[in-house]
Amino acid sequence: MFSVHKQSGEFLYQQVIDLICQQIGSGALSPGDKLPSLRHLSSELTVSIPTVRQAYLELERQGQIVAREKSGYFIQDKQNNPLVSIGCRTCRPVEVRCRNLIERIYDAIHSPGVLPFGIANPCMALPATKTLNRTMKRVMARAEERTLGYAHTIGDLGLRRQLSYRYLNHGLSVNPDEILITNGAQEALALALKSVASEGDVIAVESPAYHGLLELIESLGMLALELETCPVSGVSLEALDKALRRHQVAACMFSSSLSNPLGCVSSNQHRQAMVELLESYSVPLIEDDVYGDLIYAGPRPHPAQYYSRKGLVLTCSSFSKTVAPGYRIGWLLAGSAFRTAHKLKRSISCSSGLLQQMTLTDFLASGDYDRHLKRLLPVLKYNAQRMSAAISRYFPKQTGISQPGGGSVLWLQLPRKVDSVLLFQQAIEQDISILPGTVFSAGRRYKNHIRLSYGHPWSDNIDAGLSKLAELVHRQLTDNPD
Ligand SMILES: Cc1ncc(COP(=O)(O)O)c(C=O)c1O
Repeated sequence: MFSVHKQSGEFLYQQVIDLICQQIGSGALSPGDKLPSLRHLSSELTVSIPTVRQAYLELERQGQIVAREKSGYFIQDKQNNPLVSIGCRTCRPVEVRCRNLIERIYDAIHSPGVLPFGIANPCMALPATKTLNRTMKRVMARAEERTLGYAHTIGDLGLRRQLSYRYLNHGLSVNPDEILITNGAQEALALALKSVASEGDVIAVESPAYHGLLELIESLGMLALELETCPVSGVSLEALDKALRRHQVAACMFSSSLSNPLGCVSSNQHRQAMVELLESYSVPLIEDDVYGDLIYAGPRPHPAQYYSRKGLVLTCSSFSKTVAPGYRIGWLLAGSAFRTAHKLKRSISCSSGLLQQMTLTDFLASGDYDRHLKRLLPVLKYNAQRMSAAISRYFPKQTGISQPGGGSVLWLQLPRKVDSVLLFQQAIEQDISILPGTVFSAGRRYKNHIRLSYGHPWSDNIDAGLSKLAELVHRQLTDNPD
């Protein structure tokens, strides 16, 4: 099945644990599967039976496996409590007022030494630092002064070509001249939104929605219309249809390939129906695809733009979640709004960092990007499983936990009496960051929800942080009984 390294210096039982977790992470072992007997695994790995027993007992303590009398050990198949959709009965456009809260939270969570459950930084789970640095050095040695100059306002041709090849693999044929390189996905989203809508317009978003979209809508003086979103299949097409009939929707902004914070992946069928519905009303869709390459639960769906017949779908993405958020390199496929978006880009930020663009071009062309993703995805999946198991162990039993199809965040539905903003304040005093659910809603929903990131290497420290966070939740419940 696999092997341990007796000379590595690491405890043998820990190596057995790691091997089993890797098998769970890669999907080779699934919930409900029976593990080999103690005797069988000890002879396979040439370690003692007590070593394997110690590993199994520890995995059982972590909630990863269960012992069944006279049958042996099995991978935990207990489903976490599913999330319950809280619906959006009062579906009407509202002004967004979340900027102050987001500002307060961001000041706190970026402080050094704070446990980073509040920051979605998936590539930290397996940084590509060495390969990336080597690539950058190579680029600097080759191109010298050119790397210090301005990039073309549209972006470096090499990078746009690489992106064009990649989209072809996802079924989307896009010419390099239709790709605009931006300063991260956030600039792409801003350019897209400004290109298709104006102050006072109504923008439909998923509920819960990525807080960066809400902040953008707020800063541009637009109104947000929250649409009910299923934690498994994505934005409700029924709710979307109703909204389009009732309101003058100027555009939709959905993170529909992999939603943040729900982590759900909408199917190709769903995406096709969504685009057809929107284009029948001539309403543009801005798809935030920043997590598209981090889907580990199955194949990556087609970008929504693949289904567009009228050029009304705009795709925004970046390398922030996959490679390096500090590079600030993203892109926009603006469809029929390309010229407007390009003019805006020129007037706002001229161009994006050339050295970073050239480094990423080489990183993609050499195959390093794909190799990196291939290693990163199982780590993220493994982290999600470890974090879900720890939450089931420490948090109140009514806690609902999302089952993400990729990315790096879990969305938790805590008992109704929990106040997530208060929890954020209490947690930050203990150097633990979280994101309270209210920042994911224009209508201040999700008061008892939180988002936790698993985008850092799993460690005892992270496990201990979750246990402390759960204590705070339990304390809120005992301080505020029925
Ligand atoms: C869903 C989503 N979209 C966009 C962004 C912004 O990405 P970037 O850092 O590339 O600007 C983020 C960053 O957290 C995000 O989570």
